Amino acid sequence: MAKPLNVGMIGYGFMGKAHTNAYCQVNHFFDLAYRPVLKAVCARSADKAKPFADQWGYESVETDWRKLIQRKDIDLIDICTPNNTHAEIAIAAAQAGKMILCEKPLAMSGPEGLKMVEAVEKAGVANMVWYNYRRVPAVTLAKQIIDQGTLGHIFHYRAKFLQDWTISSQVPVGGQALWRLDSSVAGSGVTGDLLAHCIDTALWLNGPIDTVSGMTETFIKERPGALSGQPEQVRIDDASAFLARFANGSLATFEATRYARGHKALYTFEINGENGSIAWDLHDLHRLQFFEYSGDGRLRGWRSIHVTEKEHPYMENWWVPGLQIGYEHTFIHQIADFLRGLAENTQPEPTFKDALKTEKVIDAVLISAKTGSWMRCE
Ligand SMILES: NC(=O)c1ccc[n+]([C@@H]2O[C@H](COP(=O)([O-])OP(=O)(O)OC[C@H]3O[C@@H](n4cnc5c(N)ncnc54)[C@H](O)[C@@H]3O)[C@@H](O)[C@H]2O)c1
Repeated sequence: MAKPLNVGMIGYGFMGKAHTNAYCQVNHFFDLAYRPVLKAVCARSADKAKPFADQWGYESVETDWRKLIQRKDIDLIDICTPNNTHAEIAIAAAQAGKMILCEKPLAMSGPEGLKMVEAVEKAGVANMVWYNYRRVPAVTLAKQIIDQGTLGHIFHYRAKFLQDWTISSQVPVGGQALWRLDSSVAGSGVTGDLLAHCIDTALWLNGPIDTVSGMTETFIKERPGALSGQPEQVRIDDASAFLARFANGSLATFEATRYARGHKALYTFEINGENGSIAWDLHDLHRLQFFEYSGDGRLRGWRSIHVTEKEHPYMENWWVPGLQIGYEHTFIHQIADFLRGLAENTQPEPTFKDALKTEKVIDAVLISAKTGSWMRCE
């Protein structure tokens, strides 16, 4: 019988749902020594949190995260709130001896992220950041292919994350759903929001980034304030692109925008090595494109691997070969790995310390975009 692990989740929005779904499903599909229990959900308004708690099966509701953190019956704090709250909550939770799962980006900046790393390390509590794209089976397969050396020497890494939801100048700044446009809450714009995912995946697949040269743009500089009702200056980056040199000598390009008309969440990456290439696309997330430069030249070509076989990462826990899984499963995989780590006394990645590396790249890109200089990432 799996041991209960009492979860206190803060925030019940997009990620609150994705994580809660993962807690509900994980033990149905993975054989684990621990079982998450939906002990409490926390939001500022009980009126809004209560229906969420009832719908998903949380036992109780809190309206102050500080109270939640002090509760003796909570083992793990899950931070699903906007970026400007992550550090304060995580540091307090670490001091209270709770395990912590924190949404990405880890922090508003590298120095803030460092304080979070120091807090969890001092407290010795299990910690992880929800860079969930690592656990798309096709992306995990890409990692396996790279780690076994199949691509050989890596020359290029290319990533982009494209959306189109802020093109209208009437999309307001700030407030409940639009905190991503408010720099005091989000930190940065697409750099910390979308590129953070691209950077985390890239560091995982291709190793450390040494230097970057970035550029950002805010296309619409004034928008209606969702809370003030007055025009407000927009301080986030609407679009961000950077060149990078990896420590392994490869060159990279990264791009993210919310102004790519027609694209909703087009996260893609491609890696080119001396013996092969791989490419992945979030819109077709169960496929990995693979080219291998070997064998009979007449038969060479890109293959599209349908990542649904029992041999593929995570897939033996799901349906029969040929039937694919989706976005929500990445969160189930992440919590499964976290719970397995607890049982085995290992610390699955990405930890706060791993996620800090992404913060350092983000900081370097934003400084480079302001100064026009190449920046080192450490
Ligand atoms: N891993 C991913 O793919 C992914 C996707 C989306 C968002 N995120 C990250 O998840 C976090 C939340 O994003 P979201 O899209 O779920 O946002 P959201 O706006 O949908 O939800 C945020 C929730 O936080 C609550 N909240 C805000 N301040 C609070 C406070 N002081 N105390 C308690 N509750 C508070 C809000 O009421 C809301 O329920 C962000 O850091 C974001 O970057 C990650």
